[in-house]
Amino acid sequence: MPSLEWKAEYSVGNELIDSQHRGLLELIVRLEQALTGDSSRGQDLDLLTELVRYANNHFSTEEDLMRECGYPYCWEHEKSHLEFREDLARLAGIIMQGDQDGWARLLEFTHSWWQGHILGLDRDLFRYYHQHRESRLADGA
Ligand SMILES: [Fe+2]
Ligand SMILES: [Fe+2]
Repeated sequence: MPSLEWKAEYSVGNELIDSQHRGLLELIVRLEQALTGDSSRGQDLDLLTELVRYANNHFSTEEDLMRECGYPYCWEHEKSHLEFREDLARLAGIIMQGDQDGWARLLEFTHSWWQGHILGLDRDLFRYYHQHRESRLADGA
């Protein structure tokens, strides 16, 4: 699994969202480094908690923007955020029970979520968001 690294092509063209996505990526990478390094279990769990908090904050920012532009696929997008929360909570539970594969599964999950959600659904959302803004500007709104 190659390590994730921010690339210009990841940008969705919104400064706030890009900086939050960078923050998420950074946390995923820090978690990955912690797990392959000699960090303590407590430090690993702190990072996981930070990732959950950060993601929740990011989701609410994004959901506000979705409503603001009347995104027609709000429900599907919010459902995907909810599924992320649920999957992460489930994996955290597995880790807390001492399952040896828990962390590896968690990393795999965050990587595939990055590809599928950030580079998929979020891009679709911001394509709509920018079109919506442009048409409002053209209408003089
Ligand atoms: Fe996002
Ligand atoms: Fe999203």
